[in-house]
Amino acid sequence: MTEKMIRIALLSGGKSAEREVSIKSGDQVFSALDKNRYVITRYDPKEDLPRLARDADSIDVALIILHGRLGEDGTIQGFLDSLDIPYQGSGVLGSAMAINKVISKERYVQKGIPSAPYVVAGKGNAMDEEKILKELGLPVVIKPEHEGSSIGLSIVRKREDLQDALRKAWQFDARCLVEKFIEGIEVTGAVLGNEDLEALPLVEIIPGEKYDFFDYEAKYTPGATKEICPARLSPEITAKAQEYALRAHRALHCRGYSRTDMIVDGSQIYVLETNTIPGMTETSLYPQAAQGAGYSFSGLLDKLIELALDRSRDR
Ligand SMILES: Nc1ncnc2c1ncn2[C@@H]1O[C@H](COP(=O)(O)OP(=O)(O)O)[C@@H](O)[C@H]1O
Ligand SMILES: [Mg+2]
Repeated sequence: MTEKMIRIALLSGGKSAEREVSIKSGDQVFSALDKNRYVITRYDPKEDLPRLARDADSIDVALIILHGRLGEDGTIQGFLDSLDIPYQGSGVLGSAMAINKVISKERYVQKGIPSAPYVVAGKGNAMDEEKILKELGLPVVIKPEHEGSSIGLSIVRKREDLQDALRKAWQFDARCLVEKFIEGIEVTGAVLGNEDLEALPLVEIIPGEKYDFFDYEAKYTPGATKEICPARLSPEITAKAQEYALRAHRALHCRGYSRTDMIVDGSQIYVLETNTIPGMTETSLYPQAAQGAGYSFSGLLDKLIELALDRSRDR
């Protein structure tokens, strides 16, 4: 007799600005999953949540391949918790904290994890421009509180562009995070595990010359960005950045896996943000880091499913 097949609900699509990315990741995850071990049913939360709820008793585990709002922010996680369906990655609390760039920032500060100096700018607050210039100077990076994939994000180098950039970010959220621009080498630190957390090799990110930073196009246009794994950093800086990735994961109560973006400026490392559902196409950053640690794309999915089914994961 073969082992009992595991019944997977594969969730992709959804309603966020990152819907297209999610569908692409979902297709690749579907192809890579071992059909001898898993029976897979696909759901697009945009329309299939009632069906998912009806099927709950016949689902062993869900794979949430969704990004942004209503996918990565704890809402789907809470829905699945209510249906008693285990899923990969962070729970409600970790997801909700990590998706919020202001709350994450406050947690990093509390836990002594270095990050760029910042100001929080609330919609229509006339004082903000003065405050930003006085406390941070230029250039600054302006990010909506909740979006991912660099959506609504601007780098402002001239004072006259500040208001437009704030207005752009406020189209997405009532608050935005304004950060001092850090010049340096961009890396991302993937971590994997429940109780025994492993830091995977760092991936160095080099956006093509035509991109000002790692923006939406640089992220998703094939060949637009060069990635190097392991990152070309000294063993000391590498160890420190990996340690910050682990600390950020714990500070935000993440579970199973996460990926923390950082900028390295000389010996100084600045944590930018932590992703609880990192991109999951075969060539995405997390799968590249996992490959550097010896996991094939399918092997990584097996591992995430195993971690999701690990009953001790909530301790
Ligand atoms: N403080 C900063 N200094 C320099 N570049 C930044 C800074 N913050 C963000 N960036 C650039 O913008 C990109 C996206 O920012 P990030 O905080 O990772 O948000 P997200 O990926 O969710 O959009 C980063 O990958 C980096 O290229
Ligand atoms: Mg990022």
